[in-house]
Amino acid sequence: MTQQVFARIAGTGSYLPSKVLTNDDLARFVDTSDEWISARTGIRQRHVAAEGETTCDLAYHAATRAMEAAGVTADELDLIVVGTTTPDLIFPSTACLLQARLGASGCGAFDVNAACSGFIYGLTVADKFIRGGNARTALVVGSETLTRMLDWSDRSTCVLFGDGAGAVVLKADHETGILSTHLHADGAKKELLWNPVGVSAGFKPGEPNAGVRVLMTGNEVFKHAVKALDSVVEETLEANGLDRHDIDWLIPHQANLRIIEATAKRLDMPMDRVIVTVDRHGNTSSGSVPLALDEAIRSGRVQRGQLLLLEAFGGGFTWGSALLRY
Ligand code: COA
Repeated sequence: MTQQVFARIAGTGSYLPSKVLTNDDLARFVDTSDEWISARTGIRQRHVAAEGETTCDLAYHAATRAMEAAGVTADELDLIVVGTTTPDLIFPSTACLLQARLGASGCGAFDVNAACSGFIYGLTVADKFIRGGNARTALVVGSETLTRMLDWSDRSTCVLFGDGAGAVVLKADHETGILSTHLHADGAKKELLWNPVGVSAGFKPGEPNAGVRVLMTGNEVFKHAVKALDSVVEETLEANGLDRHDIDWLIPHQANLRIIEATAKRLDMPMDRVIVTVDRHGNTSSGSVPLALDEAIRSGRVQRGQLLLLEAFGGGFTWGSALLRY
């Protein structure tokens, strides 16, 4: 009988640009306050990429750290997937740019654009490649320079986001790794959180940044996010025949502390079993889950053998989860 193959995390890495922007810094040029931002979102600061520092640069640092942790060299990679909604260029994909930087030429490499759910979507694709026998070693990255598409005069959005990247190396293994992944989307809600310009729809030459900016109806997004995450968490437990108390760690997308707390409550999880980085990173979109995962592993909180529930929600809308034994 052939043994089942799982995609198992062999190593993780992450990277944050060195420049930090605090809430007080923001309050100097937009009508907001540390008190408002902290109370509504839990965010105290975020990192901002330096001029000329790109999504691929961030991805490269996170990826090399993950590969080092996994003991994997570039020539061993069979697949590179980058979750991003802020690619360096329209094409080639950031995954191809990263592949060249790593010296991993030859393997498949592509981007996945699912906004803040990009890492969960990318992890899902890589898991299928490994389980299906099409790859033995895969690099999955979530990397973003979201601050490049913010309208810094719009206090309802510019206080929320930051830049950063996280990465995992997955290896085929007979030991349990990723147990299940669950993806969803609802394109009919696109206008609640979007960036309404592009190559084919056209840019707006008369507007600042050619119209490139995040538009969001925050309170609606909040409600949809809580509901969607509740439902995907239930779906994940049910698909694996698990009780909510079986989960060792919740590693959520870091958009808003109140959304994270709502999901933790649903799982009856005390907050000390939930990885929180939103206070220091803000919302780094597809970078957020792998950043939180890497931090939790490197700090020694997450241990081998533990059961982790990863989840994310983002523009599209998109949302999803991954249940894995680390
Ligand atoms: N500083 C100070 N005041 C602000 C502000 C800021 N940065 N942003 C908005 N406000 C004001 C609004 O203008 C409004 O003022 P008004 O009552 O005089 O009209 C008031 O605060 C309340 O705005 P509202 O949007 O209803 O606040 P909220 O409680 O919904 O909080 C968010 C706003 C954005 C923090 C919250 O809706 C949220 O986090 N939504 C989810 C966003 C998200 O996570 N997106 C990414 C998903 S991946």
